[in-house]
Amino acid sequence: MTRPFSERIAIAAMEKKSPIVLALDPRSSGKQRLREFAAKTICAVEQYICAVKMNFHIILPLSASEISRINKQVHSFGLQSIADIKMNDIENTNAVALDLLTKMGFDAAIANPFIGRNELASLVQKAHKADAGIIALVYMSHPGAKEGFGLKVQGRRLYKAFLGRAAATGADGIVVGATQLEILQEVAGRLPVYSPGVGVQGGGAEQAIRSGADYLIIGRSIIEAKQPTKVAKEIQNRILSIGK
Ligand code: XMP
Repeated sequence: MTRPFSERIAIAAMEKKSPIVLALDPRSSGKQRLREFAAKTICAVEQYICAVKMNFHIILPLSASEISRINKQVHSFGLQSIADIKMNDIENTNAVALDLLTKMGFDAAIANPFIGRNELASLVQKAHKADAGIIALVYMSHPGAKEGFGLKVQGRRLYKAFLGRAAATGADGIVVGATQLEILQEVAGRLPVYSPGVGVQGGGAEQAIRSGADYLIIGRSIIEAKQPTKVAKEIQNRILSIGK
């Protein structure tokens, strides 16, 4: 029997001694350059990461078979693969998207609990049936997040409702920005926390881990560095030195 996604990524993080999820967000255009960039970057940093996250940057321009090949490479290094298209649609559309993503070899997808409790539950159930995971947005990393996730609705901040919804539906993890240390501290320990926003967006790797993040999603600071291997290794070392 296949292990659940949350266990697979925890094992990868243990084996690689790294909670870093690489955001593979290339800026280059042209399919061949994108494919080459993906292959080269994954090879350069695979020792220092536990997973690769792909976003529209790469999922939109490349074909399903090209993405499948990237996912095969990701898996060949013992890493997990996450699709970050922030699913936010009606139940049927989300189900179709999830089916296509899992067929491309993704192990998990990110979804917005804004869709509603029943819809999130249905998505989580379908993902689990396909041996995949769902990671739910709780509080995003960008400044405008407060205008949505931070809103007070019926006396309660929306992100608290989203956290409750993620836990109640059996989601495999939550996303809270590394730029939101107080919220990280508040939600830590309920579900595995994935934290983007380290580096270019202003968040600090060590602070996020100390505040309760389990995984750090890092893109531009690594992939746009002159020496991605060196930077990924440095961040891994800084995290290891915390000893958490
Ligand atoms: P950088 O280059 O800023 O890339 O390290 C971050 C990656 O993560 C995505 N991102 C988020 N994804 N919730 C998410 O699900 C968030 O709050 C969030 N903030 C950033 C971003 O699109 C990029 O792929």
